[in-house]
Amino acid sequence: MAKAKVKSIGTAVPPKVLSNFDLEKMVDTTNDWIVERTGIHQRHIAAPGVTTSDLSAEAALKALEAGGVSPADVDLIIVATITPDMYLPATACLVQDKIGSKKAWGFDMSIACSGFLYAMQVGGQFIQSGAHKNVVVIGVDVMSSIIDYTDRQTCIIFGDGGGAALLTATESDDEVGFIDFIHEVDGSGGDYLCLPAGGSKLPASHETVDQRKHFVHQEGKVVFKYATRKMPELCVKLLERNGLTGDDVDVFIPHQANLRIITSAVERLKMPMDRVVVNIDQFGNTTAGTLPLAIESAVQRGQLKKGDLVLMATVGAGFSAGAMLLRW
Ligand SMILES: CC(C)(COP(=O)(O)OP(=O)(O)OC[C@H]1O[C@@H](n2cnc3c(N)ncnc32)[C@H](O)[C@@H]1OP(=O)(O)O)[C@@H](O)C(=O)NCCC(=O)NCCS
Repeated sequence: MAKAKVKSIGTAVPPKVLSNFDLEKMVDTTNDWIVERTGIHQRHIAAPGVTTSDLSAEAALKALEAGGVSPADVDLIIVATITPDMYLPATACLVQDKIGSKKAWGFDMSIACSGFLYAMQVGGQFIQSGAHKNVVVIGVDVMSSIIDYTDRQTCIIFGDGGGAALLTATESDDEVGFIDFIHEVDGSGGDYLCLPAGGSKLPASHETVDQRKHFVHQEGKVVFKYATRKMPELCVKLLERNGLTGDDVDVFIPHQANLRIITSAVERLKMPMDRVVVNIDQFGNTTAGTLPLAIESAVQRGQLKKGDLVLMATVGAGFSAGAMLLRW
């Protein structure tokens, strides 16, 4: 069986920046509170009319160019998002058309912050089975479309943007590629981070709009507790079953939900902070977008090099969580 690897990465963030100081003018909050409680300084926000498929297409084209693969040669497009352009058709279909990947099929995956990592695993299986040569995995969210900018607990956290990874097969003598993963969901946490209306449970009505039920609802403390427990737990499990410890990991790329969640995981993994990729200060939590954005930051900073052992981890709504080991 072939092994899957990330051949290249491309990202897309809208140019408009929403700083903590801007938020001070919108809700009862302060820059100091946001920085201290989350590590976020600013986030990017899409202009009206800029959609998930727009950012996805931009990221995908950059990844394809960086990987030297023509859009015409893409076999499969998977878009991880909870902010599709529309309920239907799938955003993957819109991206396929926008980038001109005429022979590609595709679908969306909706698993919130875990989306990109789960989609990488699913895309990787199509490479490993030999079914496909070029798979584009996208993690993008336009969170500003579902955030209530009168709710200070959620609006300070989220931002827009994301990226795409081009997955291909490794060469036979290649040491790089996907090694192992562990993914887990716990649906009993569903109510703590959700978008209450607009689905089959509460279809859109004047009442649901008046009650602001088309925005993200979060019970931050419960989510925080789950995240700080689950992220290190899965990382340790995955490392142990591969005969590794935190010390063996060259680069740790965690989901960027809250700097305090990241640092508590890093303490449990007994890892020095200089091996950890953090860019939440610039982008906030972009949901499915955080991991590709963090990969790109790591490459740009020279923090991630060929041959590095990489641990990625995520946690989010569902509840859902995951960890993945790969050699870059
Ligand atoms: C949302 C979150 C930042 C809140 O931080 P926290 O330290 O848990 O804060 P609390 O909810 O305990 O609130 C502490 C106080 O700050 C207040 N507060 C909440 N948001 C605030 C804000 N933006 N600015 C100022 N004060 C705020 C609260 O009202 C509370 O005040 P009180 O003590 O008078 O009741 C934090 O819970 C969190 O990050 N949770 C996880 C969120 C997440 O990662 N979601 C995505 C998962 S992928």
